[in-house]
Amino acid sequence: MISSRVLLALALGALSAQAIPSLKTRQSITTLSTNQIETYKPYTWYASTAYCAPANTLAWNCGTNCQANPTFKPIASGGDGDETQYWYVGYDPTLKTIIVAHQGTDTSELLADLTDGDIVYSSLDPTLFPGVPSSVEAHDGFQGTQSRSAAGVLAGVQSGISKYGATQVTVVGHSLGAAIALLDSIYLPLHLPSNIGVKFIGYGLPRVGNQAFANYVDANAAKVPVTHINNMEDPIPICPGMFLGYVHPSGEIHIQDSGSWDACPGQDNGSDLCIVGDVPYIWDGDESNHDGPYDGVTMGC
Ligand SMILES: *[C@@H]1O[C@H](CO)[C@@H](O)[C@H](O)[C@H]1NC(C)=O
Repeated sequence: MISSRVLLALALGALSAQAIPSLKTRQSITTLSTNQIETYKPYTWYASTAYCAPANTLAWNCGTNCQANPTFKPIASGGDGDETQYWYVGYDPTLKTIIVAHQGTDTSELLADLTDGDIVYSSLDPTLFPGVPSSVEAHDGFQGTQSRSAAGVLAGVQSGISKYGATQVTVVGHSLGAAIALLDSIYLPLHLPSNIGVKFIGYGLPRVGNQAFANYVDANAAKVPVTHINNMEDPIPICPGMFLGYVHPSGEIHIQDSGSWDACPGQDNGSDLCIVGDVPYIWDGDESNHDGPYDGVTMGC
């Protein structure tokens, strides 16, 4: 006689045999809870703060942006806001992470650049990115900007590791700053001890590189988690176009018109709950959505 417990086990076995493969092959779009959204808030402020002048981020006296993260310990800052976007590095003892942040740029200028032909991509510089396959290619302009702050950012991170015993680095940015930050999230692990974790949180990220680039980022996602958050009908995240060979890595969160945040699985998910489906063409976009608000934070100093 078969006991009811055995029958239950058999039934559960049959269920999970069906459920497991379908879970593996189909990841669904999930809506973030209010608590999950709130965990991004300090990083959103840090990305916004990168628009403040280097003297003010180094003294941490930049007003509302700086006050939003009151325990921050600045370490280094730089850039001229022209050739080299502003950047700063410091330590957040509350979040227990070093923060690296990069300034973005004017929405219309960036959109014009990325749609008017400034779209050439090439292999990463082997001095800055030793060991990355040459098939991994990224936008030349983004690479140039990242290279001009690379040494200063790395020195700041290294000093934060020795001064605060930090084991985590979070690289953030908005717009062009997000593109630079994504390149930093590839660059930094190649020059830091392997016990130092690096993660990327970007806002209004344009596409940075080709399919091999996106695959490289995805292949490292367990070590270097990537989250790129885009807002409503912002046209920047759909530039440069996929028809030019550009691909986003996985890790998209799309903010709906309703204000809810949806996590979109895969690269350039075409669902209309995600940016590719929501903004199929530039003319479907609304430039005013680029600066936010991202859960109440509008980018800028
Ligand atoms: C987009 O998300 C859906 C889940 O709703 C998933 O089934 C699909 O594979 C994703 N597309 C890509 C390109 O990853």
